[in-house]
Amino acid sequence: MKILFLDQSGKPGGAELCLIDIAKPYQKNCLVGLFADGSFKDLLEKHDIPVEVLTNQAIQVKKESSLSQGLASMTQLAPLIAKVVKISRNYDLIYANTQKALVVAAIASFFSRRPLVFHLHDILSAEHFSKTNRTISVNLANRASLVIVNSQASKKAFIEAGGKAELVEIVYNGFEPQKYINNRIEINQVRKQLELEDKFIVGHFSRLAPWKGQHILIEALAKCPPEVTVILVGDALFGEQDYVKQLHQQIDSLQLQNRVKFLGFRNDIPLLMAACNLVAHTSTSPEPFGRVIVEAMLSGTPVVAAASGGAVELVESGVNGFLSTPGNPQELTEIIETCLSDKQKTDAIAQKAKDSASQRFHVANINQQIALLLQQLAVNSEQRTANS
Ligand code: UDP
Ligand code: GLC
Repeated sequence: MKILFLDQSGKPGGAELCLIDIAKPYQKNCLVGLFADGSFKDLLEKHDIPVEVLTNQAIQVKKESSLSQGLASMTQLAPLIAKVVKISRNYDLIYANTQKALVVAAIASFFSRRPLVFHLHDILSAEHFSKTNRTISVNLANRASLVIVNSQASKKAFIEAGGKAELVEIVYNGFEPQKYINNRIEINQVRKQLELEDKFIVGHFSRLAPWKGQHILIEALAKCPPEVTVILVGDALFGEQDYVKQLHQQIDSLQLQNRVKFLGFRNDIPLLMAACNLVAHTSTSPEPFGRVIVEAMLSGTPVVAAASGGAVELVESGVNGFLSTPGNPQELTEIIETCLSDKQKTDAIAQKAKDSASQRFHVANINQQIALLLQQLAVNSEQRTANS
Protein backbone atom coordinates (compact mmCIF):
# COMPACT_ATOMS: atom_id res chain seq x y z
CA MET A 1 0.00 0.00 0.00
CA LYS A 2 1.37 3.43 -0.98
CA ILE A 3 0.72 6.16 1.58
CA LEU A 4 1.03 9.92 1.38
CA PHE A 5 1.47 11.18 4.96
CA LEU A 6 0.92 14.88 5.60
CA ASP A 7 2.05 16.89 8.64
CA GLN A 8 2.09 20.65 9.04
CA SER A 9 5.09 20.88 11.34
CA GLY A 10 8.78 21.37 10.62
CA LYS A 11 9.56 20.71 14.27
CA PRO A 12 9.42 17.38 16.10
CA GLY A 13 6.55 17.53 18.60
CA GLY A 14 4.96 14.34 19.96
CA ALA A 15 2.66 13.89 16.95
CA GLU A 16 5.65 14.07 14.61
CA LEU A 17 7.76 11.62 16.66
CA CYS A 18 4.79 9.25 16.59
CA LEU A 19 4.56 9.63 12.80
CA ILE A 20 8.17 8.47 12.39
CA ASP A 21 7.21 5.11 13.93
CA ILE A 22 4.03 4.85 11.86
CA ALA A 23 5.71 5.70 8.53
CA LYS A 24 8.74 3.47 9.09
CA PRO A 25 7.12 0.18 7.93
CA TYR A 26 6.04 1.98 4.72
CA GLN A 27 9.42 3.64 4.03
CA LYS A 28 9.72 1.98 0.60
CA ASN A 29 6.19 3.02 -0.38
CA CYS A 30 5.43 6.36 1.17
CA LEU A 31 6.13 10.05 1.18
CA VAL A 32 5.86 12.37 4.15
CA GLY A 33 4.78 15.81 2.92
CA LEU A 34 5.55 18.65 5.35
CA PHE A 35 4.20 22.21 5.36
CA ALA A 36 7.39 23.64 6.88
CA ASP A 37 11.11 22.98 6.77
CA GLY A 38 13.05 22.16 9.92
CA SER A 39 14.60 19.51 12.13
CA PHE A 40 11.64 17.10 11.72
CA LYS A 41 12.63 16.71 8.08
CA ASP A 42 16.20 15.83 9.16
CA LEU A 43 14.89 13.24 11.60
CA LEU A 44 12.77 11.59 8.89
CA GLU A 45 15.78 11.48 6.58
CA LYS A 46 17.85 9.93 9.36
CA HIS A 47 15.25 7.15 9.53
CA ASP A 48 15.33 6.73 5.71
CA ILE A 49 11.74 7.86 5.35
CA PRO A 50 11.11 9.79 2.08
CA VAL A 51 10.18 13.37 2.88
CA GLU A 52 9.40 16.53 0.92
CA VAL A 53 8.70 20.04 2.15
CA LEU A 54 5.62 21.00 0.12
CA THR A 55 5.50 24.71 0.94
CA ASN A 56 7.67 27.28 2.62
CA GLN A 57 4.83 29.69 3.22
CA ALA A 58 3.71 29.75 6.87
CA ILE A 59 0.04 28.88 7.35
CA GLN A 60 -1.45 31.60 9.53
CA VAL A 61 -4.28 29.75 11.34
CA LYS A 62 -3.73 29.45 15.11
CA LYS A 63 -5.51 27.20 17.62
CA GLU A 64 -7.65 30.19 18.65
CA SER A 65 -8.36 31.57 15.15
CA SER A 66 -11.74 33.02 14.17
CA LEU A 67 -13.76 32.00 11.10
CA SER A 68 -12.67 35.04 9.03
CA GLN A 69 -8.99 34.35 9.80
CA GLY A 70 -9.55 30.72 8.88
CA LEU A 71 -11.22 31.60 5.58
CA ALA A 72 -8.52 34.13 4.70
CA SER A 73 -5.90 31.42 5.03
CA MET A 74 -7.81 29.16 2.61
CA THR A 75 -6.84 31.33 -0.37
CA GLN A 76 -3.25 31.07 0.78
CA LEU A 77 -3.58 27.27 0.80
CA ALA A 78 -4.70 26.90 -2.83
CA PRO A 79 -1.24 26.22 -4.38
CA LEU A 80 -0.43 23.70 -1.65
CA ILE A 81 -3.74 21.89 -2.16
CA ALA A 82 -3.14 21.73 -5.93
CA LYS A 83 0.29 20.21 -5.30
CA VAL A 84 -1.11 17.62 -2.87
CA VAL A 85 -3.89 16.66 -5.32
CA LYS A 86 -1.26 15.98 -7.98
CA ILE A 87 1.10 14.02 -5.70
CA SER A 88 -1.69 12.01 -4.08
CA ARG A 89 -2.69 10.48 -7.43
CA ASN A 90 0.48 8.37 -7.09
CA TYR A 91 -0.61 7.02 -3.69
CA ASP A 92 -3.38 4.75 -2.41
CA LEU A 93 -4.37 6.85 0.55
CA ILE A 94 -3.78 10.17 2.26
CA TYR A 95 -2.92 10.10 5.97
CA ALA A 96 -3.25 13.47 7.72
CA ASN A 97 -1.33 13.65 10.99
CA THR A 98 -2.22 17.17 12.15
CA GLN A 99 -5.19 19.55 11.98
CA LYS A 100 -3.86 21.84 9.22
CA ALA A 101 -2.76 18.77 7.30
CA LEU A 102 -6.36 17.55 7.59
CA VAL A 103 -7.69 20.70 5.91
CA VAL A 104 -5.39 20.22 2.91
CA ALA A 105 -5.78 16.43 2.87
CA ALA A 106 -9.61 16.50 3.00
CA ILE A 107 -9.89 18.81 0.00
CA ALA A 108 -7.17 16.95 -1.92
CA SER A 109 -8.76 13.56 -1.23
CA PHE A 110 -12.03 14.86 -2.70
CA PHE A 111 -10.32 15.81 -5.98
CA SER A 112 -7.91 12.88 -6.27
CA ARG A 113 -10.52 10.37 -5.01
CA ARG A 114 -8.12 8.82 -2.55
CA PRO A 115 -9.39 7.60 0.85
CA LEU A 116 -8.53 9.85 3.78
CA VAL A 117 -7.23 8.79 7.18
CA PHE A 118 -6.97 11.35 9.96
CA HIS A 119 -4.75 10.68 12.98
CA LEU A 120 -6.10 12.91 15.75
CA HIS A 121 -3.44 13.67 18.37
CA ASP A 122 -5.41 16.42 20.13
CA ILE A 123 -8.25 16.79 22.57
CA LEU A 124 -10.77 18.88 20.64
CA SER A 125 -12.09 20.80 23.63
CA ALA A 126 -12.53 24.51 24.39
CA GLU A 127 -9.42 24.37 26.60
CA HIS A 128 -7.26 23.64 23.56
CA PHE A 129 -9.11 24.98 20.47
CA SER A 130 -11.46 27.81 19.42
CA LYS A 131 -15.02 26.83 18.48
CA THR A 132 -14.29 27.63 14.82
CA ASN A 133 -11.25 25.37 14.73
CA ARG A 134 -13.14 22.55 16.44
CA THR A 135 -16.04 22.85 13.98
CA ILE A 136 -13.75 22.86 10.94
CA SER A 137 -11.72 19.89 12.22
CA VAL A 138 -14.74 17.77 13.10
CA ASN A 139 -16.56 18.49 9.84
CA LEU A 140 -13.53 17.58 7.77
CA ALA A 141 -12.68 14.55 9.92
CA ASN A 142 -16.24 13.28 9.43
CA ARG A 143 -15.42 12.98 5.71
CA ALA A 144 -12.49 10.65 6.43
CA SER A 145 -12.75 6.89 6.03
CA LEU A 146 -11.02 6.39 9.37
CA VAL A 147 -10.11 8.56 12.35
CA ILE A 148 -7.31 7.14 14.51
CA VAL A 149 -7.17 8.76 17.96
CA ASN A 150 -4.36 8.54 20.50
CA SER A 151 -6.52 7.91 23.61
CA GLN A 152 -10.02 7.42 24.95
CA ALA A 153 -9.87 11.04 26.12
CA SER A 154 -9.25 12.28 22.56
CA LYS A 155 -12.06 10.01 21.29
CA LYS A 156 -14.55 11.34 23.86
CA ALA A 157 -13.76 14.98 23.03
CA PHE A 158 -14.00 14.27 19.28
CA ILE A 159 -17.46 12.75 19.63
CA GLU A 160 -18.61 15.53 21.99
CA ALA A 161 -17.48 18.07 19.37
CA GLY A 162 -19.72 16.36 16.77
CA GLY A 163 -17.36 13.70 15.42
CA LYS A 164 -18.84 10.44 14.08
CA ALA A 165 -18.22 7.66 16.62
CA GLU A 166 -18.27 4.91 13.97
CA LEU A 167 -15.14 6.34 12.28
CA VAL A 168 -13.00 6.25 15.39
CA GLU A 169 -10.35 3.70 16.41
CA ILE A 170 -8.10 4.18 19.43
CA VAL A 171 -4.44 3.40 18.83
CA TYR A 172 -1.89 4.38 21.47
CA ASN A 173 1.60 5.62 20.51
CA GLY A 174 4.16 2.84 20.03
CA PHE A 175 7.74 2.69 21.39
CA GLU A 176 10.81 0.50 20.93
CA PRO A 177 11.67 -0.75 24.43
CA GLN A 178 15.30 -1.50 23.39
CA LYS A 179 15.89 2.22 22.88
CA TYR A 180 15.32 2.74 26.60
CA ILE A 181 18.03 0.40 27.86
CA ASN A 182 21.02 2.27 29.27
CA ASN A 183 23.98 1.12 31.30
CA ARG A 184 24.85 2.39 34.79
CA ILE A 185 28.21 3.82 33.68
CA GLU A 186 26.58 6.07 31.05
CA ILE A 187 23.86 7.11 33.49
CA ASN A 188 26.42 8.09 36.13
CA GLN A 189 28.40 9.99 33.50
CA VAL A 190 25.34 12.07 32.60
CA ARG A 191 24.64 12.85 36.26
CA LYS A 192 28.28 13.92 36.62
CA GLN A 193 28.17 16.08 33.47
CA LEU A 194 25.09 17.79 34.86
CA GLU A 195 26.98 18.30 38.16
CA LEU A 196 24.04 16.71 39.95
CA GLU A 197 25.63 13.42 41.07
CA ASP A 198 24.47 13.66 44.68
CA LYS A 199 21.08 15.28 43.99
CA PHE A 200 17.56 13.92 43.69
CA ILE A 201 16.83 14.88 40.08
CA VAL A 202 13.26 15.54 38.99
CA GLY A 203 13.11 15.74 35.19
CA HIS A 204 10.47 17.51 33.13
CA PHE A 205 10.53 16.56 29.44
CA SER A 206 8.17 18.75 27.46
CA ARG A 207 8.24 21.68 25.14
CA LEU A 208 8.12 24.91 27.14
CA ALA A 209 4.47 25.99 26.89
CA PRO A 210 2.06 27.30 29.55
CA TRP A 211 -0.26 24.26 29.43
CA LYS A 212 2.65 21.86 29.94
CA GLY A 213 2.85 23.38 33.44
CA GLN A 214 6.59 23.68 34.10
CA HIS A 215 5.66 26.54 36.50
CA ILE A 216 3.73 24.07 38.69
CA LEU A 217 6.85 21.95 39.12
CA ILE A 218 8.93 25.05 40.00
CA GLU A 219 6.36 26.04 42.60
CA ALA A 220 6.40 22.51 44.04
CA LEU A 221 10.22 22.54 44.09
CA ALA A 222 10.26 25.62 46.33
CA LYS A 223 8.73 23.51 49.13
CA CYS A 224 10.95 20.43 48.59
CA PRO A 225 14.10 19.58 50.62
CA PRO A 226 17.31 21.20 49.25
CA GLU A 227 18.72 18.05 47.63
CA VAL A 228 15.82 18.05 45.13
CA THR A 229 16.76 19.69 41.81
CA VAL A 230 14.88 20.06 38.54
CA ILE A 231 16.00 19.68 34.94
CA LEU A 232 13.72 21.19 32.29
CA VAL A 233 14.30 19.38 29.00
CA GLY A 234 12.62 20.86 25.94
CA ASP A 235 12.34 24.09 24.04
CA ALA A 236 9.65 26.65 23.22
CA LEU A 237 8.87 24.91 19.91
CA PHE A 238 5.94 27.07 18.87
CA GLY A 239 7.04 30.59 19.88
CA GLU A 240 6.14 30.61 23.59
CA GLN A 241 8.98 33.03 24.48
CA ASP A 242 6.87 34.97 27.02
CA TYR A 243 6.37 31.78 29.01
CA VAL A 244 10.12 31.10 29.04
CA LYS A 245 10.69 34.62 30.41
CA GLN A 246 7.99 34.04 33.01
CA LEU A 247 9.66 30.78 34.13
CA HIS A 248 13.01 32.52 34.60
CA GLN A 249 11.33 35.30 36.61
CA GLN A 250 9.56 32.74 38.81
CA ILE A 251 12.86 30.89 39.43
CA ASP A 252 14.60 34.18 40.31
CA SER A 253 11.88 35.32 42.68
CA LEU A 254 11.87 31.95 44.49
CA GLN A 255 15.71 32.00 44.52
CA LEU A 256 15.90 28.59 42.86
CA GLN A 257 18.58 29.51 40.31
CA ASN A 258 20.92 26.81 41.68
CA ARG A 259 18.23 24.13 41.67
CA VAL A 260 16.81 24.38 38.13
CA LYS A 261 18.66 23.68 34.90
CA PHE A 262 17.28 24.41 31.42
CA LEU A 263 18.75 21.85 29.01
CA GLY A 264 16.92 22.95 25.83
CA PHE A 265 15.75 20.44 23.19
CA ARG A 266 17.65 17.14 23.42
CA ASN A 267 17.85 14.00 21.32
CA ASP A 268 19.08 11.73 24.15
CA ILE A 269 15.80 11.48 26.07
CA PRO A 270 16.11 7.80 27.17
CA LEU A 271 19.51 8.41 28.77
CA LEU A 272 18.46 11.68 30.42
CA MET A 273 15.31 10.06 31.79
CA ALA A 274 17.31 7.17 33.20
CA ALA A 275 19.56 9.72 34.92
CA CYS A 276 16.56 11.20 36.75
CA ASN A 277 15.18 9.96 40.07
CA LEU A 278 11.67 10.98 39.08
CA VAL A 279 10.01 12.25 35.89
CA ALA A 280 7.25 14.80 36.39
CA HIS A 281 4.45 15.47 33.93
CA THR A 282 2.48 18.53 34.97
CA SER A 283 0.10 19.54 32.17
CA THR A 284 -2.58 21.91 33.41
CA SER A 285 -4.99 21.10 30.54
CA PRO A 286 -5.90 17.49 29.73
CA GLU A 287 -3.00 15.73 27.98
CA PRO A 288 -4.23 13.88 24.86
CA PHE A 289 -1.78 11.00 25.34
CA GLY A 290 1.58 12.00 26.87
CA ARG A 291 4.51 10.21 25.27
CA VAL A 292 6.86 11.37 28.04
CA ILE A 293 4.87 9.35 30.59
CA VAL A 294 5.39 6.08 28.72
CA GLU A 295 9.03 6.95 27.95
CA ALA A 296 9.72 7.49 31.67
CA MET A 297 8.21 4.07 32.39
CA LEU A 298 10.36 2.41 29.71
CA SER A 299 13.46 4.13 31.13
CA GLY A 300 12.74 2.56 34.50
CA THR A 301 12.32 5.93 36.20
CA PRO A 302 9.30 6.56 38.45
CA VAL A 303 6.79 8.96 36.94
CA VAL A 304 4.22 11.34 38.38
CA ALA A 305 1.59 12.57 35.91
CA ALA A 306 -1.17 15.18 36.01
CA ALA A 307 -4.41 13.22 36.44
CA SER A 308 -6.41 14.23 33.40
CA GLY A 309 -6.97 13.29 29.74
CA GLY A 310 -4.97 10.36 28.34
CA ALA A 311 -2.59 10.34 31.34
CA VAL A 312 -5.14 8.51 33.50
CA GLU A 313 -5.30 5.75 30.87
CA LEU A 314 -1.53 5.27 31.23
CA VAL A 315 -0.99 5.57 34.97
CA GLU A 316 -2.65 3.75 37.83
CA SER A 317 -1.55 5.67 40.90
CA GLY A 318 0.54 3.62 43.31
CA VAL A 319 0.75 0.72 40.83
CA ASN A 320 2.85 1.87 37.84
CA GLY A 321 3.40 5.52 38.78
CA PHE A 322 1.75 8.37 40.63
CA LEU A 323 -1.08 10.73 39.71
CA SER A 324 -1.31 14.29 40.96
CA THR A 325 -4.17 16.78 40.66
CA PRO A 326 -3.42 19.12 37.70
CA GLY A 327 -2.31 22.59 38.80
CA ASN A 328 -1.76 21.55 42.43
CA PRO A 329 1.92 22.15 43.44
CA GLN A 330 1.31 21.16 47.08
CA GLU A 331 0.27 17.64 46.10
CA LEU A 332 3.23 17.40 43.74
CA THR A 333 5.63 18.35 46.56
CA GLU A 334 4.16 15.56 48.70
CA ILE A 335 4.63 12.98 45.93
CA ILE A 336 8.23 14.10 45.32
CA GLU A 337 8.90 13.75 49.06
CA THR A 338 7.38 10.24 49.10
CA CYS A 339 9.65 9.17 46.24
CA LEU A 340 12.63 10.73 48.00
CA SER A 341 11.96 8.96 51.29
CA ASP A 342 10.65 5.56 50.15
CA LYS A 343 13.09 4.48 47.45
CA GLN A 344 12.31 0.79 47.76
CA LYS A 345 8.58 1.19 47.17
CA THR A 346 9.16 3.70 44.35
CA ASP A 347 11.69 1.45 42.59
CA ALA A 348 9.25 -1.46 42.71
CA ILE A 349 6.57 0.71 41.10
CA ALA A 350 9.01 1.83 38.39
CA GLN A 351 10.01 -1.78 37.64
CA LYS A 352 6.36 -2.78 37.30
CA ALA A 353 5.75 0.17 34.98
CA LYS A 354 8.71 -0.78 32.79
CA ASP A 355 7.55 -4.38 32.43
CA SER A 356 3.95 -3.56 31.57
CA ALA A 357 4.75 -0.58 29.29
CA SER A 358 7.22 -2.69 27.27
CA GLN A 359 4.30 -4.95 26.30
CA ARG A 360 1.38 -2.54 26.15
CA PHE A 361 3.08 0.13 24.01
CA HIS A 362 5.45 -2.04 21.98
CA VAL A 363 5.79 -0.44 18.55
CA ALA A 364 5.43 -3.81 16.81
CA ASN A 365 1.95 -4.33 18.33
CA ILE A 366 0.90 -0.75 17.64
CA ASN A 367 2.08 -0.89 14.01
CA GLN A 368 0.21 -4.13 13.53
CA GLN A 369 -3.01 -2.48 14.73
CA ILE A 370 -2.51 0.33 12.23
CA ALA A 371 -1.64 -2.07 9.41
CA LEU A 372 -4.86 -4.04 10.01
CA LEU A 373 -6.97 -0.88 10.02
CA LEU A 374 -5.39 0.35 6.77
CA GLN A 375 -5.76 -3.05 5.08
CA GLN A 376 -9.44 -3.14 6.02
CA LEU A 377 -9.82 0.31 4.55
CA ALA A 378 -8.18 -0.77 1.29
CA VAL A 379 -10.53 -3.79 1.06
CA ASN A 380 -13.59 -1.59 1.66
CA SER A 381 -12.45 0.93 -0.91
CA GLU A 382 -11.82 -1.80 -3.56
CA GLN A 383 -15.27 -3.24 -2.89
CA ARG A 384 -16.84 0.19 -3.33
CA THR A 385 -14.99 0.69 -6.63
CA ALA A 386 -16.09 -2.77 -7.84
CA ASN A 387 -19.73 -2.02 -6.95
CA SER A 388 -19.83 1.40 -8.61
N1 UDP B 1 11.19 15.45 23.47
C1 UDP B 1 12.42 15.42 22.84
N2 UDP B 1 13.37 16.32 23.22
C2 UDP B 1 13.13 17.23 24.20
C3 UDP B 1 11.86 17.26 24.83
C4 UDP B 1 10.91 16.34 24.44
O1 UDP B 1 12.67 14.59 21.95
O2 UDP B 1 14.04 18.01 24.50
C5 UDP B 1 10.18 14.44 23.06
C6 UDP B 1 9.70 13.56 24.18
O3 UDP B 1 10.62 12.53 24.44
C7 UDP B 1 8.36 13.08 23.65
C8 UDP B 1 7.90 14.26 22.79
O4 UDP B 1 9.02 15.11 22.62
O5 UDP B 1 8.52 11.93 22.84
C9 UDP B 1 6.76 15.04 23.39
O6 UDP B 1 5.61 14.29 23.27
P1 UDP B 1 4.40 14.37 24.29
O7 UDP B 1 3.38 13.45 23.78
O8 UDP B 1 4.87 14.14 25.68
O9 UDP B 1 3.90 15.89 24.26
P2 UDP B 1 3.58 16.90 23.02
O10 UDP B 1 4.69 17.88 22.99
O11 UDP B 1 3.46 16.09 21.80
O12 UDP B 1 2.27 17.53 23.39
C1 GLC C 1 0.14 15.44 20.71
C2 GLC C 1 -0.38 15.46 22.14
C3 GLC C 1 0.36 14.51 23.07
C4 GLC C 1 0.50 13.14 22.40
C5 GLC C 1 1.17 13.29 21.05
C6 GLC C 1 1.30 11.95 20.32
O1 GLC C 1 1.26 16.21 20.51
O2 GLC C 1 -0.28 16.79 22.70
O3 GLC C 1 -0.34 14.36 24.28
O4 GLC C 1 1.24 12.29 23.23
O5 GLC C 1 0.38 14.12 20.23
O6 GLC C 1 0.05 11.34 20.07
